[in-house]
Amino acid sequence: KEKTLPVIAIDGPVASGKGTLARRLAATINFAYLDTGSLYRAVASLILERGSDPNDSVVAAKVADSFTADDINRSDLRDEKVGQAASIVAANQEVRKSLLEFQRNFAKAPPNNHLGAVLDGRDIGTVVCPDAEIKLFISATPEVRAKRRHKELLDRGDESIYARVLEDLRERDERDRNRATAPLRAAEDAVTLDTSDMDADKAFEVAKSLVSERLSL
Ligand code: DC
Repeated sequence: KEKTLPVIAIDGPVASGKGTLARRLAATINFAYLDTGSLYRAVASLILERGSDPNDSVVAAKVADSFTADDINRSDLRDEKVGQAASIVAANQEVRKSLLEFQRNFAKAPPNNHLGAVLDGRDIGTVVCPDAEIKLFISATPEVRAKRRHKELLDRGDESIYARVLEDLRERDERDRNRATAPLRAAEDAVTLDTSDMDADKAFEVAKSLVSERLSL
């Protein structure tokens, strides 16, 4: 029987810092990294480019069906409007089904001879990789997350209004948590890491020691 490589599932709400943490963790332990939100963002970006409505489920399903790895490199993935549209297409069951296979293949066969895979998203521990060796759920209060997001936008030279960022974030949380298919929630066997009072370095340290212990690195 083929030996399976270890998988680390990292889930959490928007701007929880899971992406930064997951990327750094993967690089440190030589695991491949997949930001699964970028798949939903890529589908959203393709839909907007066609001038279509992300709420149109037939179009969304068709676009997701023709998704390829190259689409992750689209330049507008971090735009606010793409993020909002991604949250809408992520509620589409057909879209989720199309992207599920891509994510599972990545976890099973991480590219470039990596020793394992780190996937971050909303449903990695619950749906995509329920057998993951390690599951982390990263949380922080909406205010802390909005503050981080606001700073990030200002730092990259975008205009940003804190109150607006907080409102958008609450709206997206609401949609991610309450959708019928694969809603955002911690898996029963996930370790929850509340980073409200931690900076990125501290969160990384805590996660790294947990991973080292579990995988005996
Ligand atoms: O993490 P992010 O903001 O890049 O994710 C974009 C959208 O995709 C977000 O609204 C949630 C959704 N998403 C999802 O439903 N499942 C995932 N595994 C990852 C992201």
